[in-house]
Amino acid sequence: MPVASYLPEKNIALELVRVTEAAAISAAREQGRGDKHAVDQAAVDAMRQVLSRTDLDGVVVIGEGEKDEAPMLYNGERVGNGEPPLVDVAVDPVDGTRLTAEGRGGALAVIAVAERGSMYAPGSLVYMDKIAVGEEAAGHIDITAPVAHNLAAVARAKEKDIGELTVVILDRPRNADYIRQVREAGCRISLIGDGDIQGGITTAIPGMGIDILLGIGGSPEAVTTACAIAALHGEIQCKLWPRNDAEKQYAIDNGLDLDQVLSTRDLVDSDNTFFAATGVTTGSMLRGVRFGGVHTSTHSVIMRSKSGTIRFIEADHRVEWVEGEIKP
Ligand code: FBP
Repeated sequence: MPVASYLPEKNIALELVRVTEAAAISAAREQGRGDKHAVDQAAVDAMRQVLSRTDLDGVVVIGEGEKDEAPMLYNGERVGNGEPPLVDVAVDPVDGTRLTAEGRGGALAVIAVAERGSMYAPGSLVYMDKIAVGEEAAGHIDITAPVAHNLAAVARAKEKDIGELTVVILDRPRNADYIRQVREAGCRISLIGDGDIQGGITTAIPGMGIDILLGIGGSPEAVTTACAIAALHGEIQCKLWPRNDAEKQYAIDNGLDLDQVLSTRDLVDSDNTFFAATGVTTGSMLRGVRFGGVHTSTHSVIMRSKSGTIRFIEADHRVEWVEGEIKP
């Protein structure tokens, strides 16, 4: 087979959106029922079902965890129908499982793909410190610099008053110091309960009203976000954030450098990333799934970094729901 056929030349985001649409539709059926696991399971089952029919030979690098605790879409699992291209796959069947279970907005079904061997694998280190911005402020941030310095630099780059900047931060005790410093600098804050993939992406889509993402969130979400940020010409920088001595030791044992600033390129070393997300519940970027009898509507965004194309896709599906399986 010619080498070129191993590389993802067509825009496979157009295929990947079918995967996130199916996951979102399945997960949305569980909205507000208070069961996070049911939300995740529904999305995982649907994602896996559609992925198995998708033309790709994928290895899950960012998945639901290790095989023992994740029977499906586990790290290292082969996905796709085995046809080229050969790719790394990052999945977050629902970023915002709790949001969905509680009936709150802002949950997405997400998948990202890039060439085989290109995605950073954080292993068991589940958190990273993150800073992300869109194109105008790319090249002006430094995760090792004080928060006030970064805020001033982003304001300058975007020709805004510092008081006009909106900083998105995950609402967690571990981010309290970020919240304090951002307030001291006089910036506005958008505090999110969950979902920092959407938080990161909205910094880089003009018109979303978010200027910068700051704070400690999930490592898998950082790699997935990087696949979108690459397409949006923004910038993300991260550092692994171990929670305790055992995680510090894990990093040493596994050759993970806790001082390394992970750039967009370190997180995904590719000029050809693909990203697709579908709204599960309505948020700032995407509308949630709407059920209308046999018609179900979804709202998605797909991106490809090589071309820089961003598409928002509204779809109307004639969906039959038979014994837990979507029959498109
Ligand atoms: P899931 O819905 O996949 O569990 O992730 C939600 C999320 O808010 C992510 O967006 C974020 O990166 C991570 O959880 C933060 O982790 P934690 O909830 O443990 O603080």
